[in-house]
Amino acid sequence: MSNEQKLSVYQPSEEFVKNAAIAGMDAYRALCKEAEDDYEGFWARHAREMLEWKEPFTKVLDESDAPFFKWFADGKLNVSYNCLDRNVNNGLGDKVAIIFEGDKGDVTRVTYKDLLARVSKFANALRSLGVQKGDRVVIYLPMSIEGVVAMQACARIGATHSIVFGGFSAHALRDRIEDAGAKVLITSDGQHRGGKALPLKPIADEALALGGTDCLQNVVVVKRTGGEVTMVDGRDVWLDDIVASQSETCEPEWVEAEHPLFVLYTSGSTGKPKGVQHSSGGYLLQAMMSMKYTFDIKPEDVFWCTADIGWVTGHTYITYGPLACGATEIVFEGVPTYPDAGRFWKMIQDHKVSIFYTAPTAIRSLIKAADNNPEVHPTKYDLSSLRLLGSVGEPINPAAWEWYYQNVGGGNCPIVDTFWQTETGAHMITPMPGATPMVPGSCTLPFPGIMAAVVDETGTEVPWGQGGILVVKRPWPAMIRTIWGDPERFKKSYYPDDFKGKLYLAGDGAIRDVDTGYFTITGRIDDVLNVSGHRMGTMEIESALVAHESVAEAAVVGRPDDVTGEAIVAFVVLKGARPTGDEAAKVIKELQNWVGHEIGPIAKPKDIRFGENLPKTRSGKIMRRLLRQLAKGEDILQDTSTLENPAILEQLKG
Ligand code: WTA
Repeated sequence: MSNEQKLSVYQPSEEFVKNAAIAGMDAYRALCKEAEDDYEGFWARHAREMLEWKEPFTKVLDESDAPFFKWFADGKLNVSYNCLDRNVNNGLGDKVAIIFEGDKGDVTRVTYKDLLARVSKFANALRSLGVQKGDRVVIYLPMSIEGVVAMQACARIGATHSIVFGGFSAHALRDRIEDAGAKVLITSDGQHRGGKALPLKPIADEALALGGTDCLQNVVVVKRTGGEVTMVDGRDVWLDDIVASQSETCEPEWVEAEHPLFVLYTSGSTGKPKGVQHSSGGYLLQAMMSMKYTFDIKPEDVFWCTADIGWVTGHTYITYGPLACGATEIVFEGVPTYPDAGRFWKMIQDHKVSIFYTAPTAIRSLIKAADNNPEVHPTKYDLSSLRLLGSVGEPINPAAWEWYYQNVGGGNCPIVDTFWQTETGAHMITPMPGATPMVPGSCTLPFPGIMAAVVDETGTEVPWGQGGILVVKRPWPAMIRTIWGDPERFKKSYYPDDFKGKLYLAGDGAIRDVDTGYFTITGRIDDVLNVSGHRMGTMEIESALVAHESVAEAAVVGRPDDVTGEAIVAFVVLKGARPTGDEAAKVIKELQNWVGHEIGPIAKPKDIRFGENLPKTRSGKIMRRLLRQLAKGEDILQDTSTLENPAILEQLKG
C-alpha cells in the first residue's frame, strides 16, 4: 500500500467500539479462529444460540453429496415463527416491527403482534386456496407491508416463494411463473412510484395470456392504488375478501432446515435467468448473524435497508434478518428522488433512522442532485440519529464513500461495504463496524466463518497484491442449495471442474492488499453486468434484441458509468440497411422500448450502435474485447488483422 493510500484508513470511533457486538480486531480474530479451529462447531453454536428449533439438529454439515451441501439437516423449525411468534413471546408484541412510508408520504406502523396476526390471516387464506408445504407462490408486488406479509405467510405454511421484481415485464414474469411451476400468484392492482400510479395486475394478466402458466390456479390481488383491474372469475381473488374471515392464529408448518424457503431468479452468463434456491435454517441463521455482527443491531435501532423485496437484499435485510432480530425497520414504497432528492435524508430525520443501508448508485445520484440543488444536500437535514451506514450491490468508488461518510454519516458513522450475492444469502466480505479499520473502496475482510480466497485458473491461491478469481473454500450455511430444476447448471456455474468441484466460484475478480490482505472486488469475470446494482446478463439482453423482427444480430457489453456503475451498450446489425441520422435515432428508441418490454426498463441499453456486421475473427467469433473498448470510446490501437472485417470497427465507434 502506498503512503498516500495509507492516509485514507478510517477507524471506528471509540464510542462505537465500546458497545459493538464485535468490539475491536482481537474480538473479530477470535471469532475467525473459532471457525478455523472447529468449523462446524462455530456455526452450530450460533445456530443453537440464535434460532429457535422445534426439533434440534444433531448433524451440522453434510458433505456426502457435495456440492449439494446440507446444514442442520435433521433439525426442524419455522422461519416465520422465528421472526414473529418468538418476538411476541419474548415481550416484543407491542414493539413496532415495520414503519411503512408510502410514495406520497403516508406512514403506517405495524407492531410485532399486528404483523403476526396479519401474516397468520394471510397464511390461512393461502391454505384455504389449497397452498401446501412445498408449493411455489410467485409474488409480484411493490414495496409494501403486504409484500413482507406475503413472504412471511409463505414461510409460515412451508410454501416456497419466488419474488419477481415489480419492474420486470410480462415476459419475465411469465418465464419465472413457468419455471417455478407456481400454484398461486400474488400481485396488486398497481404501485405508487415517483408520484405516479403504475399498473401491476394488467402486466400480470398479460403474462398469463402469453401461455405456459397452466400450473397457476389462483391470482391473489392486493388493493393499493385503486386502479382499474379485470378479475377473472374462478381464478382471481381480492386479498381483502379471502382474509376477511380468517383466524388471526395459524399453526406454523414445521419444516426441515433444508426446506426451500425461496427461489429467487438472477442473471447468469447464459440467456435464461437461474432460480437460486435457498434453505430455511442455514439461510435464516446467517441473516441473523449478519444483522448482529455486520449491522451491530441493537433493540433501540431503527434499521433501513432501501432495497426492493424483489432483490436478495430485500429478502435478507428487510423480510427476514431484521424481523428475526426483533428490530424496528423502515419499508419504503417510493423512490429517492420524489418529491425531491432529499427524500432519503428527510426520512432518516423523520423516523430517526440509526442504521442506513443503500447502494452506491443511489449515493452517486444523490451526490449529483445535491451538487445541483443545495436544498437537498444531506447536511440540510438532522441526521444525528445515524450511527452506522452500509453499502451493497456494486463496488463503491472512494469518492462516493468519502461523501457518504462525511455528509451523511457526519464523519463518525462506520461504513460497512458489504460484498455478497443472491447466491450467498448473506454478507461474505465486509468490515465489522466496531472492529475493522476501513479503507474506501475495499470490502475489507471476510465475515467470521467465511473462507474467502483469491486464486488463479488452476484454483491455486495467488499472493496478496496479485489479482485473481474470488472463491470460497468451504460451504457456508446460507449458501445457494441448487438452481431450481437444474442441478447440473448449479454444479457447472458454481463448482466447476477447473477447481475439481472444491471451490465455490463467485463470478467476481478480486485482489488482496499486500499489507492488510483486504479484498477489493474488481468486477465480474463472466458476462454479467451490474447496472445500478442490478445484475443483468448480456446474453439475456442479446436474446431480447434478436427477438425483434428487424434485428439480425446483437452483442451487448458494459461500459463504466458515473452514476449507474456500468451502462449497457448494444451493437446491433439490422436485417435491413444500416440506419443513420434520424432513422437511427428512431430505431434506437424502438429497440430500447422493446428491451424494456421484453425484460424490464432496467435492461434498456443506454447506447445502441449499428453496424453492417460485428467485429469477428475468421472463425466467426465476436470480438467482445474490441466491443468493450469501442463502448468506452477507446481507440483500437492493437493489430486487428486477424479480424474478418476490420473496417466494421469504424462504423461502431460512438
Ligand atoms: C456485485 C447483491 C463490489 C458483485 C447483494 C456480485 C459488489 C454481484 C458488492 C451480486 C460490493 C455486490 N462490492 N461488488 N460490496 N456487492 N457486488 O446477486 O459483482 O444482485 O457478484 O447480490 O454484485 O449481485 P446480486
